[in-house]
Amino acid sequence: MPNPDERMWSAGEVEVLARAVIRAPSVHNVQPWSLALPGRHAELSERTDLSLPEHDPTGRDRLISCGAALENLVLAVRVLGWATAVDMVPGRGPLVAVVTASGREPPSDRELHAYAAISRRRSHRRPFAASPVASSMLAPVFGELPRGVGCRLLSAGDKDLVAVLIEQASRAIQSSDGLQRELEERTGDRGLPWAGLVRRTSLLPDVRTLARRLDEETILIFCSEYDDRAGQIRAGMAMERSWLAAVDGGLAASVLTRFLREESTRERMAAELRLPGRPLVIMRLGYPDGPVRHASHHRL
Ligand SMILES: Cc1cc2nc3c(=O)[nH]c(=O)nc-3n(C[C@H](O)[C@H](O)[C@H](O)COP(=O)(O)O)c2cc1C
Repeated sequence: MPNPDERMWSAGEVEVLARAVIRAPSVHNVQPWSLALPGRHAELSERTDLSLPEHDPTGRDRLISCGAALENLVLAVRVLGWATAVDMVPGRGPLVAVVTASGREPPSDRELHAYAAISRRRSHRRPFAASPVASSMLAPVFGELPRGVGCRLLSAGDKDLVAVLIEQASRAIQSSDGLQRELEERTGDRGLPWAGLVRRTSLLPDVRTLARRLDEETILIFCSEYDDRAGQIRAGMAMERSWLAAVDGGLAASVLTRFLREESTRERMAAELRLPGRPLVIMRLGYPDGPVRHASHHRL
């Protein structure tokens, strides 16, 4: 007869799983998920009550955020020494995925490093240090992406177009009362206007200056073959996997979706940059320009 304790999570394990999920990045830091831990399962659900009608009317960013939380959850189950079976739940219900601990299996080196990076990851919206990121540093960041997700490193030429699109999108954000209201309700690290939050009063650089500044940064675009529920969740998993690998390698990063709100921007970006799918997340990477702050504003 199996040990009854082995059929459910211990109190310590519950703590590890919950903390890993809470630390995931999410749009506007709304943490739009809930976690249930029956038996040896971990059920991650989407909280559709936490909505951002102006920035995220279709809930795409909410699902990307749930994907990031799922990536952290799987890592936590693995570092606890369990093999995992991950069932992505199709349909429109709140349940996103069920992770089942199925027998003992030690974590890999990659998983241990990624898990350790969870508590060090935070959005770096400030400038980066002048040192360029060598391509050898990026190999683990690209790593193994989930099925249907692609990731593109932008070249210097690509950044001219991205600067034009960011400039246009920023102006639209600045003149939208609804978006500005949603932004005002959120506090947090404002950072550089193109790296994060565009307020009405933010001073935006002109397109040429912006292109030059973007050229000093390493920029990745995460794309999904299909812009559907599964594609968005997988893109969130890929984003978090890459972010944690970057942090493990001493890099800092921040992600942006604010400039991908308009369908026309996404279409133009996909076509003109010949992206491997629909663009879902922009990630900027570089070496931190000073000590990295780890203050947590995630709800426990
Ligand atoms: C799907 C998604 C979209 C995001 N979009 C933006 C964005 O456009 N601009 C920005 O500054 N931060 C963006 N973020 C970062 C969140 O604001 C950040 O993860 C959250 O505030 C928690 O802070 P932390 O990353 O430092 O833990 C996004 C995060 C996610 C997961």
